[in-house]
Amino acid sequence: MTESNGNPRREFLGLAGKAGLSTVFAQALGVNLGLVNVAQAAAVKPFSFAMIADPHLYGAKDHVFDKQLEDAVLQVNEMKEQPDFVVVLGDVSHNGVLNELEKGKRILGNLRAPIRSIPGEHDWYLDMGAGWRANFGDEFWSFDHKGVHFIGLNSILVPDFWTKAGLTPEQRRDWFMPLNSPVPGVWGTDARQREWLKKDVAKLPTSTPIVIFTHSPLWDYYPRWNFQVSDAVQIRGILSKFTSVMAFHGHVHHTLYNKIGNMTSIGTMSTSWPWPYPPVKLPYPQFQQYRADPSNTSDGMGTAAVSITGPGAGRMQYAPFADSVPQRLIDGFKI
Ligand SMILES: [Fe+2]
Ligand SMILES: [Fe+2]
Repeated sequence: MTESNGNPRREFLGLAGKAGLSTVFAQALGVNLGLVNVAQAAAVKPFSFAMIADPHLYGAKDHVFDKQLEDAVLQVNEMKEQPDFVVVLGDVSHNGVLNELEKGKRILGNLRAPIRSIPGEHDWYLDMGAGWRANFGDEFWSFDHKGVHFIGLNSILVPDFWTKAGLTPEQRRDWFMPLNSPVPGVWGTDARQREWLKKDVAKLPTSTPIVIFTHSPLWDYYPRWNFQVSDAVQIRGILSKFTSVMAFHGHVHHTLYNKIGNMTSIGTMSTSWPWPYPPVKLPYPQFQQYRADPSNTSDGMGTAAVSITGPGAGRMQYAPFADSVPQRLIDGFKI
C-alpha cells in the first residue's frame, strides 16, 4: 500500500474526511449489488459516482450543518477515484427557504464532480419546489452514462390538502416536518412521472443496467414515518423488464438494504443527523444494525460512493464521518 498525504489509511480507503473515517463495502454486509449482467458487461465502462443526502441546511450563518456538508464535499473531493458525478438525494434545505437552498448550491458547487439532484420534502412544500428548481433544475430526469441508464424521480408528492384548508405556505410546509406526520398522507411520484418513465425506458434493451434515485425508498419500509413511496409497486412494475435495477435513496438518514425482484434498494446516511431505525425487522442484514453513538455527534452520518466495476457488479461504499462501523466488518476487506 502506497501512501499519500502522509496518511496510509486515506490511501487505503481512497477517501478522506473527519478523523476516524471508515468505509464499509456493501460486500462486507453480504450485499451483492449485481448491477451488471454478463451480457451487458462489454458495454459498461468502469466508473464511479458518489451520493450526498439530507444536508438539511438552515439559514443561520455558520450553522453546524453547513460544516458537515462542507466535510462531505471534502470527503468526496478527496476520493482517490474521482466520481464522474455526485447525486444529491434531497432535503438540501430544512425549511425550504431560498437562502438555505442557495447556500446548499454554493457549498455543493465546491465539488470537483458535477451534481445531479432530486428534491426532498423539506425542499419542496414552502413554495412547491420553485426555489429548489431555480437552484437545482428539473425534479425528474434521466441520462445515459458509460452504458448505464440513470433515472431521478421526485418521490415526495402528495395530493393538495392545503388549498381547501386555507393553509399558509409555512403551515403547509410544517405539516411535513414531523417524522410521523399523518396529515400529508403517504407521498409518492405522480401519474405524470410514471407516464414519462414508461416512455423513457420503452426502447431500452432489457439488459441495460438501470440506476434509479428517489428521496424516499421505493418500498414500504415504515409508512408511519413516511419511509415509503406510495406508487413504488407501479414504479417497480415499469422497471420489471430489466435484468437488474439498482435503487438509491436518502430520507431515512441511515444505511439500509433490501432486494425486491430485480431491484436492489440501498439507503444512504445523511450529512445532518441520523434517524433511528424504526421498530421493524430489517430485510437485511438480519443481525443488529449498528446504531448512532449518542456521545458522538457525527456518528451515523457521512457520504456514499458506488464503483461500477465492469463484469459482475457494482460496489457500494459507505463513508461515515465517524469510526462507528464495527471493526469486524472492516477487517477482511482491507486491500
Ligand atoms: Fe431528511
Ligand atoms: Fe426527507
